[in-house]
This record gives sequence, C-alpha cells and structure tokens, in this order.
Amino acid sequence: MHTGSMRLNAARTMLAASQRSDVPPFMVMDVMSAAARIEAAGGHVIHLEVGQPFAPAPRAAIAAAQRMLATGRVAYTEALGIPSLRSRIARHYRDQYACALDPDRIAITTGSSGAFTLAFLAAFDPGARVAIANPGYPPYRHILSALGCEPVLIETSDRDRWAITPEALLATHRRKALQGIIVASPANPTGTMMTADALAALIKTAEGEGIRVISDEIYHGLDYAFAAATAAHLSDEAIVVNSFSKYFCMTGWRVGWMVLPERLVRPVERLQQNLAISVPALSQVAAEAAFDGRDEMEAVKHGYEENRRILIDGLPRAGIDKILPVDGAFYLYADVSAFTHDSLAFAARLLEEQHVALTPGVDFDPLHGRSFVRLCYAGSAADMRETVERIGAWLRRAD
Ligand SMILES: Cc1ncc(COP(=O)(O)O)c(C=O)c1O
Repeated sequence: MHTGSMRLNAARTMLAASQRSDVPPFMVMDVMSAAARIEAAGGHVIHLEVGQPFAPAPRAAIAAAQRMLATGRVAYTEALGIPSLRSRIARHYRDQYACALDPDRIAITTGSSGAFTLAFLAAFDPGARVAIANPGYPPYRHILSALGCEPVLIETSDRDRWAITPEALLATHRRKALQGIIVASPANPTGTMMTADALAALIKTAEGEGIRVISDEIYHGLDYAFAAATAAHLSDEAIVVNSFSKYFCMTGWRVGWMVLPERLVRPVERLQQNLAISVPALSQVAAEAAFDGRDEMEAVKHGYEENRRILIDGLPRAGIDKILPVDGAFYLYADVSAFTHDSLAFAARLLEEQHVALTPGVDFDPLHGRSFVRLCYAGSAADMRETVERIGAWLRRAD
C-alpha cells in the first residue's frame, strides 16, 4: 500500500511540466487585468500599455478575406506560403528598399512570433548562445530558453543609442563564443533605431565571426527620424523577420514572413511542414491584398506621428523629461527614476488614481526596468493629450 502511493507520487512527479516551459509571464498582463477591472466598474482607462495598433486592417485585406470565405474553401497552403504572396513581398523589397530578392527565399509565418521559432530551430542547436539587446522584447529571451538556447543580454545605453555595438558584441563573443545575435530597428520597448551604417557595421562584425544575424524588422514602415534599413540589403546570410501585425494593423490575423539565406529555406520548409503545415490561408490572402491598402496605412502612420509630437512636447512639461530618442515604432520609453525605483508600483498607482495604463520596464529589462516605463502611442491624439494632462496633474500633486 505504502509502496503503491510512493510509486504514484513518483509517477506524478514525472508528469510535471517541463523545465523548459518555465518561462516568465508577461507582467503587462497584470496591468491589463487591473485596467479591465476599472473599466468593468465604469471607469474610462486610457490604454498605452498594449503594443498594438487600434486602427483596423486595410479595407482591401478584409475584402479579400471575405471573398475567400464566400467560396467556402479555406484549405492548407504550401508550407512556405502562397506563391503569389511570396512574390508580392519580394516586390515590396524592390519598391521599398531597392533590394532585389528571389521570392523563393521568402517564407510566410504565423506572425513574426512563428518566424522566431522557425528561425531559431533552423539556425541554432541547443546550447547556442544568442546575443540580445537589454532592454529588449521579452519573447526573444523566452523563446530561446524554451528551445534550449542561451539568451545573452548585452547592455545598451544612450551612449550607443540603445543598440548593440560591434565592440560590445566582440567583447561578449571573446568571453564565450556566440552563435547568434538578434537586432531590432525600430526596437521595442525603446522605439530607437539603428542608422544604416550602424546596422551594416554590426552585421559585418557578426558575420566575420560566424555569428548568425537575425533582424527583427516588424516595425519597419513606422520610422519617423530616418528611413529604416533592411538587413536583407546588407547580407544574404542574415535572417530577416517581419510581420503584417504593426504597419498593416493586422495583429490578430497572425501572419508574417522571413527572408532566409538560401541554405536555410529547405530546413525551414521541413520544420514548417511538421510544426504547422501552413499559415492560415485566409490570413495569407488578406495579407497579399494589404499591400493595396498602403495609402490607408500611411494615414494611420500620420496619426502616430501626431501622437508622437504631442508626447514629445507634453511629457517634459508634465515632468517626465528623460525620454529615449523616439525614432520609430509607436513606443516611447521614459526614465522615471526621478519618481520611483519600482515602475510596477508606479504604473499600478497611475492606473488606479488617473486611469492611465502604461507598461512598467520590468518586462523588458530585468536589470534596470524598475526605473523605466513604456508608453504605446498607437491610440488617438485626444488620448495622448489627456495622458499628458493626467500625468502632469498627478506628478504635481505627488510633489
Ligand atoms: C519587437 C517585436 N517583435 C515581434 C513581435 C511579435 O509580433 P507578431 O507575432 O504579431 O508578428 C512584437 C509584438 O509586439 C514585437 O514588439
């Protein structure tokens, strides 16, 4: 009897969740739940915490999906994606960056999130050390860890415009060899961008050492300070990741793409065949049509530019004057160490007392995130003005 229950306990232990699934949660979700509670009680919350556009997908994308739905046939597609969508994306590189690409090098993915899993599996073996900028987008670290790779944080600061420099990369690599690096420009949470020269120098250094570059270009199209450069133009060995989620306002459609080095196309195809079969056909058809909605999306972008201006002008007057260069994406990252060293509590209080929801830096930066907050300015101009008012009044009262 006793041995029986011991065996049962031992068996239960074996049924526990894997160690690799033990990735940290996204703490912004706590802010979102608190905001939902305030709204359920009738409060009006200004949402600057969620990193997604409030505008709908391009009309042409929705119409294309409706046409497909009306046929009643939504089937699997080729694992690497619908050929006409892959060609349309290749054309986009020609039009946007004067970069000629073979459509065979393009793989369609379930958002850029799906692209990371495929890219990491195709490029790295377990144990691979992959450099990422700190602060940075948390899932880079968490997906790498879940796949048995080692994320290696490289500190960035205003000295280097919040990007990994060739020198910092080499110093880390010399201490213990790296196999990969993820770069993002514009970046999340900082909203900062790398110049074409800085990106080219970093890629040259990395590839000279045999370090695989993965360039997350999901915020391309949303550049205000200067034009974003694509790694596809700078290297045939870089893996470029992009998505319809942000510029095209299609987060929920879950469709993105990769530009792959030739030798990784077939490995990615085999992985995709086994892991997902294909990306949802409806989303792929909508994504192809989305390129016809660029005028609509440019209008949305002008709205972000206006919001950006309101915050850059207004926040310093409200008391928050240590903000990172607001180059691109729709994020503003602010140093609030003059007010707090617990950005989680700061965000909770601001939400509770002023009904303004923003994201504490702790999600993005395990080292200094307690002194930073991120604001997403993808909402309305009226909300941005109101945010400045409410934060200003709140900080003045706290003085
Ligand atoms: C930097 C960055 N990369 C990738 C993603 C994932 O986006 P998706 O999977 O919707 O393409 C996000 C989402 O916020 C992001 O901020």
